[in-house]
Amino acid sequence: MYLLIMGLPGAGKGTQAAKIVDAYGVSHISTGDMFRAAMKNQTQMGKLAKSYIDKGELVPDEVTNGIVKERLAESDIKENGFLLDGYPRTIDQAKALDQILTDLDLSLDGVINIDVNPDSLIERLSGRIIHKETGETFHKIFNPPAGDYNQDDYYQREDDKPETVKRRLDVNIAQGQPILDYYREKDLVTDIEGNQEIDQVFEDVKKAIDNIK
Ligand code: AP5
Ligand code: MG
Repeated sequence: MYLLIMGLPGAGKGTQAAKIVDAYGVSHISTGDMFRAAMKNQTQMGKLAKSYIDKGELVPDEVTNGIVKERLAESDIKENGFLLDGYPRTIDQAKALDQILTDLDLSLDGVINIDVNPDSLIERLSGRIIHKETGETFHKIFNPPAGDYNQDDYYQREDDKPETVKRRLDVNIAQGQPILDYYREKDLVTDIEGNQEIDQVFEDVKKAIDNIK
């Protein structure tokens, strides 16, 4: 299965992606995670990405298309399928993805769009915490780690600062709609109500994927 998961920053793409990977065994490809790994390793691409991510801006298309093209050519993709998270984010990226998939003789099966009220997203992003060791994502209030947890074992993302979040939301609201329209025309999109409990969202995601399969 070759799927996209779309939604505004904080919509729950990563949270649902982890569950989809567990249930369906697809390879999870998050361009945001790839950039953060490159930033951590201080590669040249990581340094370039950081200069955009820290401002809440999109990394240039040619850089992003390049890393996706390379990743999709790896051998696990044809074995497991993929779930692309956070890509494409511009129409140019959507067109580049079409070409990459054509070259690999693959085609998209569906687009899961997690629809959320933008007003709830600042609260979600400001309370997000990530486990340092496993990378698992939680929320201080909506999805806290089990038991008495040690705050020092968790970190917050640099780009979850309120000023950056506002810019990320503006950029993604402007860029996201044309991409959804692009895939709606191809009849690939299933909309999921994202303003529900995480497990309920996942129930709806599973129904959507089982329909796509
Ligand atoms: P990226 O890492 O993709 O960030 P994003 O799109 O802004 O999305 P997030 O990861 O912040 O949110 P999410 O939807 O995954 O939510 P999550 O599940 O964590 O990209 C970061 C940056 O990299 C971009 O700004 C850009 O600069 C660059 N970049 C990446 N891709 C690019 C591309 N294609 N082109 C150019 N640049 C690119 O959930 C959020 C919080 O809410 C968590 O705390 C979670 O526990 C909680 N939560 C989740 N679901 C629920 C629920 N149902 N109810 C209550 N709380 C919930
Ligand atoms: Mg994410």
